[in-house]
Amino acid sequence: MPLTDGYGRRINYLRLSVTDRCNLRCRYCMPAAGVAKLGHDDILRYEELYRIARAAVAIGIEKIRVTGGEPLVRKGLVPFLARLAALPGLRQLVLTTNGLLLPELAADLRRAGVQRLNVSLDSLRSATFRQIARTGELQRVLDGLAAAEAAGFPPPKINMVVMRGINDDEVVDFARLTLTRPYQVRFIEYMPATREENWQALTVAGREILARIGAEFSLEPVAKGELAGPAEEFRIPGAAGTIGVISAVSGHFCGDCNRIRVTSTGLAKGCLFADDAFDLRPFIAAEPAVLEELLRRLVGCKPARHGLAPEQAAHRPFSMAKVGG
Ligand code: GTP
Ligand code: 5AD
Ligand code: SF4
Repeated sequence: MPLTDGYGRRINYLRLSVTDRCNLRCRYCMPAAGVAKLGHDDILRYEELYRIARAAVAIGIEKIRVTGGEPLVRKGLVPFLARLAALPGLRQLVLTTNGLLLPELAADLRRAGVQRLNVSLDSLRSATFRQIARTGELQRVLDGLAAAEAAGFPPPKINMVVMRGINDDEVVDFARLTLTRPYQVRFIEYMPATREENWQALTVAGREILARIGAEFSLEPVAKGELAGPAEEFRIPGAAGTIGVISAVSGHFCGDCNRIRVTSTGLAKGCLFADDAFDLRPFIAAEPAVLEELLRRLVGCKPARHGLAPEQAAHRPFSMAKVGG
């Protein structure tokens, strides 16, 4: 039986964060000093994460996206992914990464059964990349993309978080990339995750992003796949790739939301911006039916939409690196 929430939305997608650590310090995600380090005992063991994933699949989840922090910094990830990939009933195992470790790991990820990658890339200019990520090298990400292709991955989705006055002048350049590259380039509205004053000034609305691209190119809508995420999709006629817009703040996609989240510390969230979470940890060792029932209840209380309007920041600040975006 398909899993549906209190608003009749079909829930088939779990975002599972395996660590809050990261080898970058993106300004939209965490403070310059990084997030307070959680100890080994705070982070769920792989066996515990596996039990949660198994329970989720048992109640009707068909797609798992592994997130972080940066998932590839956690040791032992590849065998864990291979176990997830083998879960009967799971149709898609995908992963979101900043790409830095793909040169070393892409081939192993592919062999483990990861079907597709989403790669964060916020600038095509080294200096701006550094200004946003505070550390790391743009070239490593570009090498990572090449390594993913060489390992046989289908073209990745590229996530660009658009920030006014920082990288918004690159929107058209990123759109142009799709003319020759088969990527889906996704423009994401900047969301207020950290305690940033005046965050509204940084967010560029999806409509404005599309208008800017539309001033240069014509755009045709593209139909979305069955297990697709929140992006509205378009193509420049004749282009090799496609363009996606994720209106994370304007929230036009809440009505089709299909996902739940579990953090690396075992907190289950019905919405990215939900202030409350279920602590699964005390129930992981119990028989599988207990976790399954808890996850069903979480789905049952998913809110209709996030309460984040552009003119307010009602939620408590949180770290994207802890929740996994
Ligand atoms: P696919 O479409 O399945 O590839 O995944 P996705 O776009 O959901 O995943 P990804 O990890 O690449 O996230 C892209 C952006 O969408 C990130 O900025 C996420 O924080 C944002 N995002 C994902 N799900 C939600 C959501 O439920 N609400 C909001 N507001 N933003 C989300
Ligand atoms: N606003 C929008 N997107 C964000 N991400 C992380 N923090 C934010 C934010 N504040 C995105 C990153 C990454 C994805 C998992 O979440 O671009 O690709
Ligand atoms: Fe790391 Fe991703 Fe956060 Fe950037 S957005 S600091 S890559 S977890």
